[in-house]
Amino acid sequence: MLAGWFLPNKGVEFMEAISDQYQLPHKDFAAAWDAIKISPEVKNRLVAQSLLSLQLRQKFSFEVMPVHGLIVMAGPPGTGKTTLARGLANEVSRALGGSKVKFIQIDPHALGSSSLGKSQKEVTKLFQQTIPEFAAGGPTIVLLDEVETLAADRQRMSLEANPIDVHRATDAALAGIDLLCRKHRNTLLFATTNYIKAVDRALLSRADLIEDIGLPNAEARKEIIADVLKQLAMEWPKVDALKTQMAAYVHASDGLDGRRLRKAIITAAASSIETAKDLNTLRPEQIVKTLKHAVGQAAATEKAA
Ligand SMILES: Nc1ncnc2c1ncn2[C@@H]1O[C@H](COP(=O)(O)OP(=O)(O)O)[C@@H](O)[C@H]1O
Ligand SMILES: [Mg+2]
Repeated sequence: MLAGWFLPNKGVEFMEAISDQYQLPHKDFAAAWDAIKISPEVKNRLVAQSLLSLQLRQKFSFEVMPVHGLIVMAGPPGTGKTTLARGLANEVSRALGGSKVKFIQIDPHALGSSSLGKSQKEVTKLFQQTIPEFAAGGPTIVLLDEVETLAADRQRMSLEANPIDVHRATDAALAGIDLLCRKHRNTLLFATTNYIKAVDRALLSRADLIEDIGLPNAEARKEIIADVLKQLAMEWPKVDALKTQMAAYVHASDGLDGRRLRKAIITAAASSIETAKDLNTLRPEQIVKTLKHAVGQAAATEKAA
């Protein structure tokens, strides 16, 4: 069994939709928090809102203090939302004095098809049975990853989807969130979305904070590039000297998300068989060229979408 995994209370059925579960704090989650380079204000705001929500919900009734304990992180794919949400869960557990916090990650894509009301039943079970059973054992943080799949905006739905089924699944998710925030006041919900316009408005209106996670700015890109070079230099010491051309890399990478940026620096090492075999031979021009190419590709994908 993986370190950090835990068995939920007796009687909890393992659902396919739970893609990951951990007992926090955990070092991998601490590493996730550090890996995401974003302005410290964003990180602070996320931690502060989480702690405030938990505290207010312990002290006041929902009617007095309508805090749902829901934080939404929205932004383009590859901007670190899922990783940041996992890291945030760890920060919250640390701030609670290292008391054991359960973390479960839900993959809404696995919640069954909306045909025959299957996803409605599964969503209901998730919120009314599975999550409450976890929450009965102590503070629980639930990550609803790519929530647009769970709570699709009914006003924008494509005609191919069966509107009634999607309605039902979205209603079940909203009812579930309402139930959780009233009855299980030691749970926090973090939701991520790549496409906020596709998320049901009623869900967004329940969020205590919607954080827009954009493409990394120059400062963040610099930190990401430095991080990758530092890791590579541990194996190939001459990589360290590539740092001297940092300004050129930061300039050439404008428009890349964090995932593509990390990949592009690594891909630069595949510029030739020589560099692939020995990264000590990698040259700054090769990095700049690869970054420019990646920006061009990203722009083309954006246009085609
Ligand atoms: N701001 C960032 N700083 C550092 N790395 C990033 C950043 N954004 C993305 N990454 C890299 O991309 C990977 C994928 O990020 P992920 O959390 O899956 O993004 P998203 O959920 O927004 O699609 C991360 O593990 C990390 O390596
Ligand atoms: Mg993600």
